[in-house]
Amino acid sequence: MSASVDPYARLVAEARGRPFAAIVGWPVDHSRSPALHGFWLKQHRIDGHYGRLPVEPKRPALEELVAFLRRTPNARGCNLTLPHKIEIMPLLDRIDSGARRIGAVNTVVKQPDGSLEGRNTDGFGFLEALKYGAPAWRAATGPVVVLGAGGAARAIVAALVDAGVPELRLLNRTQKTAIDLGVAFTPGDERRIVVDRWDDRARALSGAALLVNTTSLGMKGQPPLDLDLSHLPRGAAVYDIVYVPLETGLLAAARARGNRCIDGLGMLLHQGRPGFEAWFGTKVTVSVAQRRAVAADLGV
Ligand code: ATR
Repeated sequence: MSASVDPYARLVAEARGRPFAAIVGWPVDHSRSPALHGFWLKQHRIDGHYGRLPVEPKRPALEELVAFLRRTPNARGCNLTLPHKIEIMPLLDRIDSGARRIGAVNTVVKQPDGSLEGRNTDGFGFLEALKYGAPAWRAATGPVVVLGAGGAARAIVAALVDAGVPELRLLNRTQKTAIDLGVAFTPGDERRIVVDRWDDRARALSGAALLVNTTSLGMKGQPPLDLDLSHLPRGAAVYDIVYVPLETGLLAAARARGNRCIDGLGMLLHQGRPGFEAWFGTKVTVSVAQRRAVAADLGV
């Protein structure tokens, strides 16, 4: 399709008057969200549409998006990906408490009165995928090690703290970011998040019940995560939120020594559920068939 086609006009034409949502980003071509929501639309025979909307990272472009969602009767909302998750916030009518705490919005839901509410479903997606991937894991079992302190880590740390994890060891290459995150998420109880040095990451695994990689290390095109797992108990679960490839070097090494492994695809699929349910009014679950369809779409 020619680059001169107005993406809003194209989305409206694709929707053909049906309720619709879209993934909004810049760029947005690589997003797998249309595959995962498209699967549910088809599975439940819902007469709706989920498209893509490229929106430039400029305030007027985001204002145009918000105005479009408000004035288009069949627009139900959108998902947001890089680089809009933070910049969209002041333009929405309401930010729910979870998204405000995380400081980012990945889902916008149009309310019956036409106003726009921002939510963040990443923490939900993270915990749901953990529940299915490691059914025996309980927050109270023991310390959790989280590698990374970026956008994804903020949602994950909030979810783990809320789930009741007794001790969360947070390690990031830039230690200051980890300290700031720890202070922000456990006010009055700073001891629950222990910030260790990145160089001490192998030792931090001692006695852990769960290890989570939220960094981009191990992702296709990125360097591998260099981590010696010898201190990690074999009963610990290992969760890598990277999903390209599905089996990262970390997961391959953990699997080889007997740890239960959770890849990043489950989180991607589960984080889509609350948005879908709000836009299209149908409860959805993540199935093996959907996982297979989205994995094929990803080429993994
Ligand atoms: P996301 O939204 O996916 O979390 P992000 O906010 O850019 O992405 O965060 C990327 C994370 O990967 C950060 O924790 C980053 O560490 P820094 O805060 O030090 O940048 C981490 N990361 C990226 N490249 C890394 C590398 N080569 N070594 C260690 N950590 C790295």
